[in-house]
Amino acid sequence: MSDGAAADRQVWSAETYEKNARFVSDLGAAVLEWLSPRAGERILDVGCGDGALTRRLMDAGADVVGVDASESFLDAAREAGIDAREMDGHALAFDKEFDAVFSNAALHWMTRPEEVISGVVRALKPKGRFVAEFGGHGNVAAIVTAMRAVARARGGDETIAGPWFYPTPDEYRGMLEAQGFDVKRIGLFPRPTPLPTGMPGWLMTFRGPFFEQFGSATDAALNDTVDLLRSQLCDRSGNWTADYVRLRVEAHLR
Ligand code: BEZ
Repeated sequence: MSDGAAADRQVWSAETYEKNARFVSDLGAAVLEWLSPRAGERILDVGCGDGALTRRLMDAGADVVGVDASESFLDAAREAGIDAREMDGHALAFDKEFDAVFSNAALHWMTRPEEVISGVVRALKPKGRFVAEFGGHGNVAAIVTAMRAVARARGGDETIAGPWFYPTPDEYRGMLEAQGFDVKRIGLFPRPTPLPTGMPGWLMTFRGPFFEQFGSATDAALNDTVDLLRSQLCDRSGNWTADYVRLRVEAHLR
């Protein structure tokens, strides 16, 4: 579930993720329903993370391979009994092996989507299907805007506030069709998402490199961001909600 260049590289910890972001796999029910895995199918899970959803595919009787670029996640997934392999989602190295390719909450980290899609095409058997959910257009817009404002005020690099790929349905449909898919269904789904451990935990889990650019002022930059967001994303009881928007798609090879 990781990608990124040099200084801006996201480093994952399965332990931190478990604490601050377990909701990500808990919210995977809709995309699992779109996939409807069947017993005996061979399925590739791209960006399998710690394997919480991958296990659900296995429980349905599918023969599943998970790939991820994070060692920490791979260790956790293997511990859960998953055939988890280290691989960059931009360079999927499979050839006509899978009935379906699945991905949840990972593709927005992969900023060269055409390369990801061509790997998915190569990995699928003829007529295979691709079912994925990830951040779509407008995802975490308030959060990114607040980080950019803090970078401007503190003389930081605002370009690393939001390194993600959040396409519109039309953009993504066009990319899939250009590589031989028929898009069966695609849509954007606003999903205000409660953050059980609050906004600071989310920000440091997912955008640590942005805040660390401020060195000894890391905590101050974090506090500024949280202050800016409070009026929009925190209720009167102190409960935080992230402004998630999901793009969900089902496409079949022609
Ligand atoms: C998401 O799932 O939408 C997401 C997660 C981490 C960072 C940005 C977006």
